[in-house]
Amino acid sequence: MNPIIVAPSLLAADCMHFAEEVASVEKAGANWHHVDVMDGHFVPNLTFGLPFVAALKKVAKIPLDVHIMVANPDEVALDYVRAGADILMFHIEAARHPHRLCQTIRAAGAKVGIALNPGTALELVYPLLDDVDVIMLMSVNPGFGGQKFIPQTVERVAALSRALSLRGRAKQVIIEVDGGITAQTAPQVAAAGATALVAGTFVFGASDRAKAIHSLHLAGSSEA
Ligand code: DX5
Ligand code: ZN
Repeated sequence: MNPIIVAPSLLAADCMHFAEEVASVEKAGANWHHVDVMDGHFVPNLTFGLPFVAALKKVAKIPLDVHIMVANPDEVALDYVRAGADILMFHIEAARHPHRLCQTIRAAGAKVGIALNPGTALELVYPLLDDVDVIMLMSVNPGFGGQKFIPQTVERVAALSRALSLRGRAKQVIIEVDGGITAQTAPQVAAAGATALVAGTFVFGASDRAKAIHSLHLAGSSEA
């Protein structure tokens, strides 16, 4: 089975103590920091912006997986790459020129990720399978942490995994899942082909964060 990348979402961190929270999940075994940028337009919530990403980049010891839930990704994605995003994840529903945006992000030296909402047809991303490094299926509607996992995500992961295999891109493109990930839901999406898992509440809310992250790493193995 594939090793699982665990990306704790800083949305669930104690925002009065970000530096300690960042260090805490790094020590606990996190692979990426997941940063939920929300603009109050594409999603109702308003969260982090460029200064936060730039400040985080100065202290982070692991890559930044920056998920921009914004109405104008074509205009702002590059700014987030310059601020320090290692993986820049934009929403297919919001991008006007997704192919061009993929090229622009790659040319700036970051990995490209495309996020799809639960109600978005997977086929929208099929013309771009050669141009992306990560495809992230939302397993909740974006905007808030702590929501319940949408079970239909499991079959969507499996269908995307098949499409990547048919295209000969299964080894190159990471399937990431975001929303409602726990020790119960992680093995289901991992078995369907997901190899990166975002987890906010489950990791930051755990009394033992190392144990929580370890349980997600195990989701890809038969021990889960
Ligand atoms: C939702 C965000 C998620 C969220 C996940 O819009 O994209 O990354 O923080 O939080 P949990 O793991 O609590 O569902
Ligand atoms: Zn996210």
